[in-house]
Amino acid sequence: MTISNAFLIILSFFIIDLSSENLSTEIIRFRRFYSSSSSSSSRIVRAATARKERIWPEGIIPFVITSNFSGEHQHLFLRAMRHWENYTCVSFVPKQPHHKHYIIFTVDKCGCCSYVGRRGEGPQAISIGKNCDKFGIVVHELGHVVGFWHEHTRPDRDLYVDIFYKSIQTGQDYNFEKSKPEEVDSLGEPYDFSSIMHYARDTFSRGAFHDTILPKPSSGFRSEIGQRIQLSEGDIRQTKKLYKCLECGGTLMQESGNLAITHTGKCTWHIIAPQGHTIFLNITGSTLSKPHSTCFIEQQNVIMVRDGVSTSSALLDQICGDDNSFRTIASSGNRMMINIQSTLPSPIPFATYYAICGGPIYANEGVIQSPKYPESYPPNSDCQWTIQVDEDSQVAIEIVYFHLEQHKECIYDRLILSESGKEKDQSSETLCGIIETKTYVSKSNQLSLRFFSDNSVQKTGFELRFSKELNECATDKNNCEHYCSNIVGGFKCSCRVGFSLSDNGYSCETTCGGFLKSSNGSFSSPNFPAKYPNSKTCVWEIEAETGYHIFLNFTKFNVEGLRTECAYDYVKIGDSEKLCGEYHEPLIFTTPQNRVRIEFSSDSSVERDGFFANFIADFDECQYDNAGCEHSCQNRLGSYICTCNAGFILSEDKHNCKEGSCFFELNAPSGEINSPSFPSDYPKSQNCSWHFVTTPGHRLMLTFSTFQVEEHSQCKYDAVSVFDGGDSDAALAGVFCGLLPPPLLLSSLNELYLTFTSDASVSRRGFQAQYSSVCGGRLIAESTPGHIYSHATFSDSKYGKNQDCSWSVSAKNAGRGVRLHFSTFNLEAEDDCHYDYVEVYDGSEANPDMLFGRFCGDTIPEIITSTGSEILLVLHTDNAEEEKGFVAEYRESSRSTRRRISKIHSEVSRRPKEPINEQFKQ
Ligand SMILES: *[C@@H]1O[C@H](CO)[C@@H](O)[C@H](O)[C@H]1NC(C)=O
Ligand SMILES: *[C@@H]1O[C@H](CO)[C@@H](O)[C@H](O)[C@H]1NC(C)=O
Ligand SMILES: *[C@@H]1O[C@H](CO)[C@@H](O)[C@H](O)[C@H]1NC(C)=O
Ligand SMILES: *[C@@H]1O[C@H](CO)[C@@H](O)[C@H](O)[C@H]1NC(C)=O
Ligand SMILES: *[C@@H]1O[C@H](CO)[C@@H](O)[C@H](O)[C@H]1NC(C)=O
Ligand SMILES: *[C@@H]1O[C@H](CO)[C@@H](O)[C@H](O)[C@H]1NC(C)=O
Ligand SMILES: *[C@@H]1O[C@H](CO)[C@@H](O)[C@H](O)[C@H]1NC(C)=O
Ligand SMILES: [Zn+2]
Repeated sequence: MTISNAFLIILSFFIIDLSSENLSTEIIRFRRFYSSSSSSSSRIVRAATARKERIWPEGIIPFVITSNFSGEHQHLFLRAMRHWENYTCVSFVPKQPHHKHYIIFTVDKCGCCSYVGRRGEGPQAISIGKNCDKFGIVVHELGHVVGFWHEHTRPDRDLYVDIFYKSIQTGQDYNFEKSKPEEVDSLGEPYDFSSIMHYARDTFSRGAFHDTILPKPSSGFRSEIGQRIQLSEGDIRQTKKLYKCLECGGTLMQESGNLAITHTGKCTWHIIAPQGHTIFLNITGSTLSKPHSTCFIEQQNVIMVRDGVSTSSALLDQICGDDNSFRTIASSGNRMMINIQSTLPSPIPFATYYAICGGPIYANEGVIQSPKYPESYPPNSDCQWTIQVDEDSQVAIEIVYFHLEQHKECIYDRLILSESGKEKDQSSETLCGIIETKTYVSKSNQLSLRFFSDNSVQKTGFELRFSKELNECATDKNNCEHYCSNIVGGFKCSCRVGFSLSDNGYSCETTCGGFLKSSNGSFSSPNFPAKYPNSKTCVWEIEAETGYHIFLNFTKFNVEGLRTECAYDYVKIGDSEKLCGEYHEPLIFTTPQNRVRIEFSSDSSVERDGFFANFIADFDECQYDNAGCEHSCQNRLGSYICTCNAGFILSEDKHNCKEGSCFFELNAPSGEINSPSFPSDYPKSQNCSWHFVTTPGHRLMLTFSTFQVEEHSQCKYDAVSVFDGGDSDAALAGVFCGLLPPPLLLSSLNELYLTFTSDASVSRRGFQAQYSSVCGGRLIAESTPGHIYSHATFSDSKYGKNQDCSWSVSAKNAGRGVRLHFSTFNLEAEDDCHYDYVEVYDGSEANPDMLFGRFCGDTIPEIITSTGSEILLVLHTDNAEEEKGFVAEYRESSRSTRRRISKIHSEVSRRPKEPINEQFKQ
């Protein structure tokens, strides 16, 4: 028999010199090796033995899934593996200690990639990254694991397909290289356009409508290539040849079935049940011939039943051909293997099997899956498991995947966890619907699980992991200084207010926070005046005598953030104030009560100097008769001040209010404004102004949703004037009145100024307008630095999805250039910066020949200097994963004499990687 076939490439040669046990470095070496795989040295080492090493012995492929994958992913991987098992004789089994070589599902930088065949060096990664977590793509990656390379690289492919090199993305040509005839055994099997290992017509295409590979017109193949739906008939045939799958037998995954000897010779059946199920094999009568000599010596006409997947699994029973007694054999796990070598075929089944859920389980850990998992469970299931772990411990259940029919009281399909085995005891829990993560811990060392499904609507079921759990908090096994909370697999210490957990995880330190009951004092961020640490939370509670307020004076304040949303690091005063950013003036607060809670929190990145604050208890003058203030009274240290409602100012006596000022300072990236008294008519003789400021590098867009201002051909009575800058001396963008709303207005820079005046007669409704920040723009570089922030809410939130911004910066003076310097840089990382990236061009256009570099990740790009008068900076973000963004500083400088291509991405990657666009064509 030939184990060879056309598109099977056993790339044994390029793994040979690897010896390191270090997985990450091995993958890199593998890549390097791959990129030179067509070099002449690779031909030397092609021997039959080397080839055998690439094949998984007995077709058994042990796997591990790194804990990072969601239950949804784990379910997907299992489905893809079962797909292979269902149609071929390969088996994917969870890795056990005796398995030396196995695959690990993980996310590697390459996105989607895998070794071809068994590497034979311990663990080998199969990377299922972003955009390839689709059934067909996982089946394809597993194809590499099984031993296949891409179909179109077989040496005779030029007879079947045309490759259009001009359409291939720069640097990706190697993915279309043909293998040399001596590297491939290409006997027998025809070229398979339908293979799941075939590329699609636009794989690695440089743009839409550019085909990279197409069937030759003469091939007569007219359907779509590159399907990622299921194994093709060719794929199945090839695998059966490669793994010498037998004609007789097969893989049985249904809940029950029959076994009959259809061919003379060897037969092998693999029966797979979900975990937590038992396989019962019912021998209904041997159809075998009588063995010639004693059964136990004879090789033929004997039924061998094994408790597992391999010929080395424990023998459960051995039945001689002439033994016609009925018997039932049970598996201990979820797999059974039956081998026979027969001299006489017979269509009559000699055995039936049933996969039965439930039963007692005496183990300290394991997995339980619903019937038929990962397929949908059948109707009318009723399974009961009882788990018993070691005495003095508890049973912990962790949900890996859970998808049952939803009902708010779970009356249809449901899983009941209970200690007594009864559905309605106090501690029982009934689960249904979709659950992403959940743990459950029993009180005793026993737990009963009962699963019911009704006769309609079936979902994909569940996978649970159970383990033995100790309540460390109930014993002296914990050494927590203050509090202990039990979690699955361990315990966690925590501390009282005013204390924080030290790095050893159990003792409590007074480093930050505390309960302060005093008439005066001070507190500060940890390490002040040095930078505060990452991931720290401190809580202070300050209490003064009743009738007093607490006066806070933050004399120093510098906390990561831009003063608005404070999503990363912050200081929270009471429930209302949340502060971040840098302040050069003291920040003063007076609390409404005689006590206040102050919380400081830092996230896992970017530290600043922090803060220092004094506090003093202050008697509240405002509490009696508003201290004589007409509108409102605000308590101040040792005194009070009166304030007035919007549109009023304080009169000379400092207590009464009179009509006045109408000036608004707007610092938020977006918002809404309106004329005074809107939606009622505006008052007469108004003179109002609005000053908008957004983050540098962003422009302001103003749109009017309502506009009714007294008409005049030159707007002499009432008028709205807009200035393209920070005050009314800036360039006038327009003067507007009447009923026609002004057009959409866009500032050149990050400031806009609007004034509204009304005369002493005729009032209208006025206006309402929305403003927002728009990224990009034209900027002028001067000798003092200017800044570009990736997004207007920089430092308060991550940059948005699907952003496309461009900034063109030109030097102010003729003959000068622009220098760009990133001071902060944090974009989603990917080897080729396919997802989110910044591109910098020399000049005013996005011309690929003028590219300085494309950047992503968190390495700060080198300083960039233009050769001409302009630089173009482009930001692109995709529809997932956002990061903190960047700040770029630009200034005028002398020009660079030649364009230095930035080093960050000079490393053009040539590695065996799946095109990330593979999924978009399904
Ligand atoms: C792999 O090698 C790198 C570089 O030598 C090292 O930093 C890393 O700790 C190693 N990892 C393992 C799992 O040995
Ligand atoms: C799991 O994810 C975290 C963060 O998402 C990452 O730091 C870690 O390296 C990942 N671990 C593995 C084994 O992939
Ligand atoms: C297994 O293969 C059979 C055909 O041989 C098919 O009918 C069945 O749907 C497959 N099951 C799965 C889970 O793929
Ligand atoms: C096994 O087969 C025998 C004979 O057909 C039958 O009586 C018995 O009930 C079967 N056992 C199971 C568990 O189905
Ligand atoms: C601060 O408190 C101390 C005692 O706690 C007191 O002696 C001192 O006078 C107070 N200072 C002020 C300014 O109130
Ligand atoms: C706050 O503290 C600073 C620095 O000690 C001081 O200059 C300032 O006057 C204080 N502010 C008030 C209102 O007490
Ligand atoms: C509006 O007030 C500003 C200063 O507050 C003043 O400069 C300007 O002349 C006033 N405009 C009108 C029309 O009164
Ligand atoms: Zn591939």
